[in-house]
Amino acid sequence: MELKKTTKLAEVIDNYPNVTEYLFSINPRYKLLKNPVIVELMSKKIDLEHVAERGGWTFEELSSKIVDGIKAGKIKSGELPTTNTKEIKERMKTLLKMLYEGKDVENVKKEFKELISKADPILIAVVEGELTKEGYTVEDLMKACDVHLELFKDQISSSRRRVSKDHPLWRFIKDHDAMMFWIEQGRDLVHEMKKRKDYDDASDLIKELKLTMEHLKESENHDVRQENTLFPVVEKYGVEEPPSIMWEEHYNMKNKRAQIEKLIEGIPSRPYNEFIDIMEGNFIYLVETFSQHTKKEQEILYNVALDLLSDQDWKDIKKESDEIGYFELPKEVLDYE
Ligand SMILES: [Fe+2]
Repeated sequence: MELKKTTKLAEVIDNYPNVTEYLFSINPRYKLLKNPVIVELMSKKIDLEHVAERGGWTFEELSSKIVDGIKAGKIKSGELPTTNTKEIKERMKTLLKMLYEGKDVENVKKEFKELISKADPILIAVVEGELTKEGYTVEDLMKACDVHLELFKDQISSSRRRVSKDHPLWRFIKDHDAMMFWIEQGRDLVHEMKKRKDYDDASDLIKELKLTMEHLKESENHDVRQENTLFPVVEKYGVEEPPSIMWEEHYNMKNKRAQIEKLIEGIPSRPYNEFIDIMEGNFIYLVETFSQHTKKEQEILYNVALDLLSDQDWKDIKKESDEIGYFELPKEVLDYE
């Protein structure tokens, strides 16, 4: 096949399935090409000019390495390997739909567990994203997906352990701690309110809750900072799905936060007990959605970014983050390492 600057990586893989493996074997900068999910996500979008750039080569250098590899028999033409990411993805989708519909739950859960022990977490996030687009709601999927959460935990190394204090990711991770701290504080306040008789009786707690909600609103600066600095850089490398999923989740959580604020503003228009019930549901939603969301960001997106981005990228992210600014972290979070 003829290699051009505009040839997509996917076209080369279609003809020579082991080309990514070979490129990594001769250039450590292609570490990411070891990951079949990333390759699946990127290869249709990234062209050879950008692949070359990623490896610190010119396009001419890259294409001659590929041609030499083919001549030496190291890059072989042929069929795609049997552990096809697409197949896993389709099977996972079917299983998730079955879980969602409550069909044959025990067996499906078992197969699902086996499948995700083989699959990469990004793939799960991608599948979830695709199903949401097909009309499945986040809440329903969450119920179906509880199986994978526990596996998520020990399956992947945390980005937390990989960054030092002066790295831009350190602050993003601290932001998450702060946001979770306030969400849990809100949930606990609502829990306390259950013990009170009416709005008057709970006035001190309502006052505290308003303050907590203000903190949560300010902390959305974290989303703005990520959406403007980190996401575009990751997307630039052809990894578009994970940021778009995170983007959507930010939007959903922001809406929920606004709903809670509206409910508080509306006091005392609805009966006290009804207010508590709705608030409780809203905070359960926030705790669950946010903990899954941070897991995806820290363990998927950040780890991908750490593999993908150059030192200059991180410097740019730091500079742009400083320009956008930060919200104040609570003492409890700063003290916690
Ligand atoms: Fe986020």
